[in-house]
Amino acid sequence: MKKKFKAISAKALVLTIGIGALSSCVSDPDSPGLEWMPDMYRSPAVETYVDYGWVKEEINTEAMMSQSAKHPPMYTIPYKGDIEDLELHLPYHRQVTSFAPVTHGLKAEYGWNISEDPIGDYFKAAEDKNPIVLTEDNEKEIFAKGKKLFNVNCAHCHGEKGDGKGPMVESGAYLGVPNFANLMELADGQVFYSIYYGKGMMGAHAPLLSNKEIWTVVHHINKLRYDDYSAATANTGVVAESTDDENGEQ
Ligand code: HEC
Repeated sequence: MKKKFKAISAKALVLTIGIGALSSCVSDPDSPGLEWMPDMYRSPAVETYVDYGWVKEEINTEAMMSQSAKHPPMYTIPYKGDIEDLELHLPYHRQVTSFAPVTHGLKAEYGWNISEDPIGDYFKAAEDKNPIVLTEDNEKEIFAKGKKLFNVNCAHCHGEKGDGKGPMVESGAYLGVPNFANLMELADGQVFYSIYYGKGMMGAHAPLLSNKEIWTVVHHINKLRYDDYSAATANTGVVAESTDDENGEQ
């Protein structure tokens, strides 16, 4: 009798598991099947900017009227950090070439400062000085930060030495990347302008890097272009003059 009961309960167990397993199978491959604890599948975590009007297959009018966060108004300045850095976060005042909406997708409705001139402010940007002034105390840190940003965002095209031979170019996938040694005359402000808005085959980097980061990279590019670029030479104009003769023709 005991044996028979054992056999029946074993059969019942197999049947229960079988039915359970089968009932959780559904034909839709994207469906998780039978959900025992829906919260485990659908996280109740509240996400920013998400419209929660559609909750558990039903329209929730109350949730529809609320939002966890609002998009910031256009031209909002992302500001964090030191008050001294405030100037660096202000919108870039230089206008981009009139071709930019077509060539680089920089449209006025997205807040880009579009010129009617095909040259834009490229040459005017030569007057802009790097607001991050090198000193003997900060130069090591700035060069280290600039190098890191450059190696992450730029070296795949420009090469870590700035010779225009990054892996993208070496693989044959990409052409026309200049050697910085041939751009000795390019003013800091123009370097910033081209990184910010992009140029030719190079895309705009303003959406990727803050103004402060771009100016930091400008210091690194100068370190690659000029042999003796440092706090002692950077702010005097000595570097550009002394290295022009030696390396200008490279
Ligand atoms: C996808 C490849 C690519 C990436 C990534 C890239 N560049 Fe370029 N870069 C180019 C090309 C191509 C040119 C030549 C543009 C021209 O003159 O038509 C160029 C030109 C430049 C110039 C010269 C601009 C001028 O006014 O003549 C500078 C400076 C520069 N890049 C810096 C950078 C920095 C800094 C980064 C990273 C933040 C970067 N680039 C990322 C491809 C790239």
